[in-house]
Amino acid sequence: DPDRLTAPPGWRIVLSDASPSTNADAARLAREGEEAGLVVVTEHQTAGRGRLDRVWETPARSSLTFSVLLRPDVPAEKWPWVPLLTGYAVHAALADRLPEVVLKWPNDVLVEERKVAGILAERIETPQGPMVVVGIGINVDQSLEELPVALATSVSLETGEPVDRTQLLGQVVGSLHGLQGLLDDTDSLRAAYADVCSTLGRTVDVHLPGAVVRRGEALDLDSSGALVVGADGGTFTVAAGDVVHVRP
Ligand code: BTN
Repeated sequence: DPDRLTAPPGWRIVLSDASPSTNADAARLAREGEEAGLVVVTEHQTAGRGRLDRVWETPARSSLTFSVLLRPDVPAEKWPWVPLLTGYAVHAALADRLPEVVLKWPNDVLVEERKVAGILAERIETPQGPMVVVGIGINVDQSLEELPVALATSVSLETGEPVDRTQLLGQVVGSLHGLQGLLDDTDSLRAAYADVCSTLGRTVDVHLPGAVVRRGEALDLDSSGALVVGADGGTFTVAAGDVVHVRP
């Protein structure tokens, strides 16, 4: 409901009925000169993109699909924290409704191992310099039949109540706006993130390029947010990859 949607101070929200991908929209607008703080929302995303070249499929009107254009005001070495910060902000916005919500490294939002939201952060070059598009997809109203069995869930399935999408969008955008400052202090961000990340301390299968899978113990996050995994008496780090929680 566009009439009830207000942007945080300095930010702007644009809505469309349909779009192939809001990440692509935000990147195009940025290359055309848009500034950070733009939020692009669509009612129906027809060619959504996920992490690791996957597709993100969402039935019209039963999800929230939007992207935020950011220019983090921190040194380049802190930019890898942006995808984790976004996951943390989405988690924070959902935690009141979904007490069981956790993050799977780097930024899958899960309830009892089922995905309720996904995030795709992409660094882009623009005439104004490098920026980041953070795309967020939240399963809001999907019924069981509309979701891959055992892999995904939706906010309303978990709460058993209808969800006001306008309110939820405002909460997530407000959360991201309000928490951006954590990038200045990545030690605090790391501690806050680790508190809500269910990957740490677990056995994981790390899917590496070339269909290689390494099993290990997720131990920690390094100073750039990469996952430190213990295996074979040593450790290795994963900067961007697919991690699967192994059930005990
Ligand atoms: C993932 O879990 O793999 C990430 C999914 C990200 C989906 C969102 S929906 C809005 C934005 N536009 C896209 O094309 N993708 C992201």
